Amino acid sequence: MADKPVIRVVVVDDIASTRENLKKLLAFEDDIEVVGTAGDGRSGIDVTRQLSPHVVLMDVNMPGMDGITATETLAVESPSSPVVIMSVQGERDYLRRAMQSGAREFLVKPFTGDELVASIRRVYDMEAKKGSYLPRPPLGGAPEGGGEPKAPCQVCLVLSGKGGSGKTFVAINLAAALRHETGGRVCLVDLDLQFGDVGVMLNLDHAKTITELVDNEGGLDWEFVDDVLADGPEGLRVLLGPFSPEFGDLVRAEHVRAVVDVLRREFDYVVVDSGSQLSEATLEAIELADQIVVVGSLTIPAIKDTRLMLKMLESLKVDPSRVLVAVNGHDAHAVYDAQSIERNLHFPVRLQLPSEPRLVGGSIHRAIPLVISHPDSEVSLLFRNLARSLTPSGSELAPVKVEAKPAGGRRFGLRRQS
Ligand SMILES: Nc1ncnc2c1ncn2[C@@H]1O[C@H](COP(=O)(O)OP(=O)(O)OP(=O)(O)O)[C@@H](O)[C@H]1O
Ligand SMILES: [Mg+2]
Repeated sequence: MADKPVIRVVVVDDIASTRENLKKLLAFEDDIEVVGTAGDGRSGIDVTRQLSPHVVLMDVNMPGMDGITATETLAVESPSSPVVIMSVQGERDYLRRAMQSGAREFLVKPFTGDELVASIRRVYDMEAKKGSYLPRPPLGGAPEGGGEPKAPCQVCLVLSGKGGSGKTFVAINLAAALRHETGGRVCLVDLDLQFGDVGVMLNLDHAKTITELVDNEGGLDWEFVDDVLADGPEGLRVLLGPFSPEFGDLVRAEHVRAVVDVLRREFDYVVVDSGSQLSEATLEAIELADQIVVVGSLTIPAIKDTRLMLKMLESLKVDPSRVLVAVNGHDAHAVYDAQSIERNLHFPVRLQLPSEPRLVGGSIHRAIPLVISHPDSEVSLLFRNLARSLTPSGSELAPVKVEAKPAGGRRFGLRRQS
């Protein structure tokens, strides 16, 4: 901690008291320093050019040049000063435009000090990983292959302490968002070995599942694994869970490790859905994952189970930087604010998904991830933002063209009507 670099921040907001409050809030952090402020987009660009901060905090609504236009300019002219947009909840159009403008993250006002600090550190860390704030190619530039070595694959496990909290919905949409935002190779693995729902939620008709991979004496190679993977929507590859619960026990920790090893070599992202039981396979996946998304819903028992899950991860010595909490409002009995949940969990809440029964139900009914069918809905933007935050290469994005079409045939003979 002692020689941690100081993160230099510029604050752009037209309200003087907001600029002051943000400065005061950040003054408590040893590793963050507000080096400059500006009151509108134009002067925000000027200050950023002069000071080359590590992170720019940008308001949206400002007189003269607004924050989105300023962000678009900075994304091209000062790509090594990434922008975090601060906007008011409900400004959905702004959230969409913020994503398109090249902003690295957005914070929905009012946000807590912890959320602000976590966002600044996250954006900084991501940038630092890329090469000490060296200038990046401009947004939208074609990604040059040029013999560059493949960036390390990110394995992201979706966990929960309670059934029905939305793990599979999150895993599917996170995988789709990673594909949508990066154009990279993404594999979704169903590690809910007894009652896995990925196949049915994506309506995949494929004869091979993870159980094909367990008794392969000669070890696993890519050709073999490739043949077992199903083709999901928009180029997603999917490793289905067993067809029936009794086959679940066949998949042991060593199989999970061997499969993930092969997938790591071939994919940029591997997203793993899990069951609600802490099986041997899930424990192995916890050890292997680079990121663990703990999904909790907003009922009192679910919050208690999320707390227990976080404690369990702590006792397994999982570094908290590998863990992020997502709370899903779909079965909330009451409205809880993020702060009281965080106080209860002793952990920051990274993602809050609103309840969207019509949209979510429709997406499951049609077997199309919401991120693909409604990429600009609020829930999809949250997933897209989360996906970006997991991307080591930040703004070097080559979005894939999204077409809303179902994939595969019909495995269970259930007719879905659109
Ligand atoms: N944000 C949301 N708004 C509305 N409905 C949602 C939302 N998130 C999830 N759901 C619904 O909640 C139900 C449970 O979701 P899902 O199957 O993803 O949970 P799970 O944690 O994977 O469950 P299991 O433990 O059974 O595997 C689904 O019917 C899904 O449609
Ligand atoms: Mg599930």
